[in-house]
Amino acid sequence: MEHSCEKALIAIIMGSESDWETMHRAHTIMKDFGVPHCCRVLSAHRTPDLLAERVRTADANGVEVFIAGAGLSAALPGAIAALTTKPVIGVPIQTGAYNGQDALLAMVQMPPGVPVGATTIGPAGATNAALLAISILANSHPEYREKLQQYREEQVARVAAIKLPCE
Ligand code: RP5
Repeated sequence: MEHSCEKALIAIIMGSESDWETMHRAHTIMKDFGVPHCCRVLSAHRTPDLLAERVRTADANGVEVFIAGAGLSAALPGAIAALTTKPVIGVPIQTGAYNGQDALLAMVQMPPGVPVGATTIGPAGATNAALLAISILANSHPEYREKLQQYREEQVARVAAIKLPCE
């Protein structure tokens, strides 16, 4: 599996190492689907110049979708979207006094002109950001469309096999 952003189709960026506890789920989905991706800590406010340099390089080198996990005021997805025209999917991290609702509102309130998509708060959001990114890739990479189909079929089989202790 490729972990260099130079050869990645998807870049998973997060504002802090503390976000990995949530964002590792996106990495696991990418690994399971065999999608070349990279994972990086880059912050909109702590490392603005490095963020700009890395996002521009990743964009130029072929990254097709950016996933950005951030908590609190969560400027990261918007800052990335300002640097690229590729899709940016934000994952609000469940942290702080408002449990991620602040981050969710920050992401969905991008003023018109520079959009950011956003998933739900926390772990489910990280998983769905990865699946959504892969479905964007699947428009032009049929191998991922097939894998998504298989993933859905496995879900159906799992749910259909559930037996409740209802006697
Ligand atoms: C945000 O602030 C990060 O995305 C993280 O969710 C939050 C807290 O960061 P740390 O203080 O844990 O580094 O920028």
